[in-house]
Amino acid sequence: MATVPKQPQQQVVTTSEAQIAVHWREEEYYYPSSKFIGQANLNDPDILNRFSEDKFPECFREYADMLSWDKYWHTTLDTSDPPFWKWFVGGKLNASYNCVDRHQAKYKNKAALIFVPEPENEAPIAVTYRDLYVRVNEFAALLRDHCGLKTGDRVTIHLPMIPELPISMLACARLGVIHSVVFGGFSGEACGLRAADSSSHVLITIDGYYRNGKLLDHKAAADVALETAAKEGHKIDKVLVWRRHQGQNASASPFVQHRDFWVDEILPNYSGEIVPPVSMDAEAPLFLMYTSGSTGKPKGCQHRTGGYLAYVTGTSKYIQDIHPEDVYWCMADIGWITGHSYIVYGPLSLAATSVIYEGVPTYPDAGRVWRIAERLNVNIFHTSPTAIRMLRKAGHDEPTKYNYHFKHMTTVGEPIEPEVWRWYYETVGKREAVIVDTWWQTENGGFLCSTKPALDPMKPGSAGPGMPGIFPEILDEMGEVVPAGSGKAGNICIRNPWPGIMQTIWGDRERFVNQYYRKYCKNPNSKDWRDWPYFAADGAVLAVDGYFRILGRVDDVINVAGHRLGTKEIESACLTVDEVAEAAVVPVVDEIKGRVPEVYVSLKPGFQPSQEVVDKVNRAVETIIGKIARPKHIHIVPDMPKTRSGKLMRRILASISNRGATGDITTLANPDVVEKVRELVQGKEPVAVGEVAEDIKQFGKED
Ligand code: WTA
Repeated sequence: MATVPKQPQQQVVTTSEAQIAVHWREEEYYYPSSKFIGQANLNDPDILNRFSEDKFPECFREYADMLSWDKYWHTTLDTSDPPFWKWFVGGKLNASYNCVDRHQAKYKNKAALIFVPEPENEAPIAVTYRDLYVRVNEFAALLRDHCGLKTGDRVTIHLPMIPELPISMLACARLGVIHSVVFGGFSGEACGLRAADSSSHVLITIDGYYRNGKLLDHKAAADVALETAAKEGHKIDKVLVWRRHQGQNASASPFVQHRDFWVDEILPNYSGEIVPPVSMDAEAPLFLMYTSGSTGKPKGCQHRTGGYLAYVTGTSKYIQDIHPEDVYWCMADIGWITGHSYIVYGPLSLAATSVIYEGVPTYPDAGRVWRIAERLNVNIFHTSPTAIRMLRKAGHDEPTKYNYHFKHMTTVGEPIEPEVWRWYYETVGKREAVIVDTWWQTENGGFLCSTKPALDPMKPGSAGPGMPGIFPEILDEMGEVVPAGSGKAGNICIRNPWPGIMQTIWGDRERFVNQYYRKYCKNPNSKDWRDWPYFAADGAVLAVDGYFRILGRVDDVINVAGHRLGTKEIESACLTVDEVAEAAVVPVVDEIKGRVPEVYVSLKPGFQPSQEVVDKVNRAVETIIGKIARPKHIHIVPDMPKTRSGKLMRRILASISNRGATGDITTLANPDVVEKVRELVQGKEPVAVGEVAEDIKQFGKED
């Protein structure tokens, strides 16, 4: 048996990991141009006064007043059932009316959406606000009359980036039907599980779409989704299939009679129909968005109509600086919260022109994004650090070859490295555009931390201060406030409720309380919001200037290219492979994607490691979750490091994967396995132990 070599870097951790000091150079400020400031929606410093803590919660009237209400609310914030906050209680409105109908008078001939197909020989298609009105109404009539959908029902939408996605969402919203959009890249199984959880009886899909030069068969996923839902004991009655190319069918999947319907075959029955928008309670759910948490099952974040729409409209206006005359392009997928809030609901509520790009940013070459920006005259651009890193690597000087001018750019979804930030600023933004680094989560509806683009200087790598009316703080494990400028990391929390916060986890109130409020609740009987800080599960550091630098997740969630994946979800996918006895998933640093999952499996007795098993595990992850979860490596190990009580130590595997110090392993039941695994992953010669990112150090600390 191998003996465990002495680990020179090993140290005993005496403070909690959340308190570890983080050292880095303070970055220099960058300032917005006077040209930007002059035209900005929000350039009055009085905002700080209007949204000061003593004005809470009434300050948020300012956002709600940007909407058209059927009935004004009587109570801005109701705290009678903490932490289930209610916003704009008594108010009534319709989200589809706010994004479509109310713009007809002034903007009917203006493009609401511009769809850019991936194949470059297919011209962009503009959908005017009038077109949008007609199409949303007709599709709403179809949902109501063909599918029998009514207010409060749920519908699962599994669509790629095409205009029919926002049209389907807005048609649901018009009827008060709760939509649950599942990211198009998720597998049929993932879609089916979510459809079953929300008990959707209707699934909206498409025959196919383009991705990286290929026309993919997407309808096939719907068939898998229906089977999966059926296994969960849930029946989906109808599948509505949009068509990518008129007169063609990109899918080989057979049509099932009375179950599958081509939308373009039944839509003519509803030609010219107008469906009155249903006047919804401000607190009526608008949509569900499933996201990964620390247990295996994705949770359906339930978002309300009034508070959500008010929050995304206000933040789109003030932070995205959207004016109706802007051409706004957010490259996120509408299947994630960023797309819901900042491609669909926020921009359309402000009568913006919102660009929808079908495909891969680097298809067919590194200049594609900048050609689109030039052709459409995009002036607001919104993307993730992963896309920025990818575009930088694919074509460092490419943006300089194109004649576009951004006034404003956003980065969202992951921490951005200061060097990457500077490339974004200097090369993509041509030193003309202001940048906002917006920190928030699916649960939050809209931005929580960001600079106010015309008012605050930018600091590369830092999201900035709390948003107007949002009061973040950093707490240590004991619930003590970690002061600004201490250089210590801790858990970022929000002290107060806000209109964009989710209502609950669909069907699981208890999990909602446990996940976000249990940890720091000061008094479970209190009806005072001050006793209920929101726990975001992100590590962060607060500088003396009040800017938050986000370090990453502190739970079992891996942020892959800005997309949240639960380690437990991936592990259970691995365990569906017959040969696999145990699986552990850890995050590993990736130059482009930030973090990617790496998988460790041990096999059941009698099985030998083989490429075949590796392939099976890969396939299982892809079919159960989707390609985005594909592991960087799959290691078949003789055994997993475990505590004496049999707990699997993911923390140790994470440090092996990331070439860090494994820490104290003497208390393990099988310390010798650590060196065996290390050798398998890193090779015979011990590699130099390097500095490991804060979120990876935190990973698995609960183990
Ligand atoms: C991370 C995406 C650093 C964070 C809107 C959070 C960020 C998770 C930033 C939520 C940012 C988001 N800087 N990290 N600007 N924005 N994150 O739910 O770890 O898909 O908890 O929402 O992304 O991911 P989600």
